[in-house]
Amino acid sequence: MIDLHSHIIPGIDDGASDFEESVKMLEIAEQDGIKTIVATPHVFCDRSNIKDLEKISEEFEKFKEKIKTSQINIEILQGAENYFVSDLREKISSFSNILTINKSDYFLLEFPSEFIFPGTKQFIFNVMTDGFIPIICHPERNREFQRDPALLYEFLRIGALSQVNAGSFRGVYGAEARLIAYDLLKYNLVHIIASDSHNSVERSPSLSFLYKKLNLIQKEKIDMLVRIIPGAIISNKPVPDIGTMKDPNAKISFFDIFRRKSK
Ligand SMILES: [Fe+2]
Repeated sequence: MIDLHSHIIPGIDDGASDFEESVKMLEIAEQDGIKTIVATPHVFCDRSNIKDLEKISEEFEKFKEKIKTSQINIEILQGAENYFVSDLREKISSFSNILTINKSDYFLLEFPSEFIFPGTKQFIFNVMTDGFIPIICHPERNREFQRDPALLYEFLRIGALSQVNAGSFRGVYGAEARLIAYDLLKYNLVHIIASDSHNSVERSPSLSFLYKKLNLIQKEKIDMLVRIIPGAIISNKPVPDIGTMKDPNAKISFFDIFRRKSK
């Protein structure tokens, strides 16, 4: 498996607290069957300690060197989790070798947890015109997507991708995020499942449990989300088709209407 989203480099964001914790996280990942992990520290938000973007590459190289001294046999690639800021389009163009996943055309895009900025649709369109493909991180944790998953559908129709956190399926982020994570799978609005791991305890880099947890879904489908699509992304290849995406508002159940109105 390939884990496309993790906070394993210590000291540069709210992820691994120190090198020992990073090693523990990587040991968990290796035992879990993860062959490749992308280090994606927060940037442009208050959880980031990065002021100078070049520092990400420096810290990444230092970390990779240091990890060679351990017994861990796992490929570590560079990336970032880009918080949505007004000049993100320019930043992605100017620093694509640092901000994208493994220097590809794909980049992780993080929204605030409470809302979606006006102009997001235009941003996605513009950045795609520049040749980049945004991957919307953990939409199931965002209040506005929870209220209206059709908004995510709109963004994906333009060509953005969506990455759900593995922990959402076991309720790590609460009941609503869990429900929406399953809904998004049902509507075929998920391209990637990644760990978004921050530590070795409750937010650890574990993906293999999905094969048991999501046992109603075909194994091939889970393979697609944790192996095949992440593999295409790190190789900068086109993402395989996930099948027809369904508009969450096209056929809405009474239960869904009630749930969304009560939010
Ligand atoms: Fe993250």
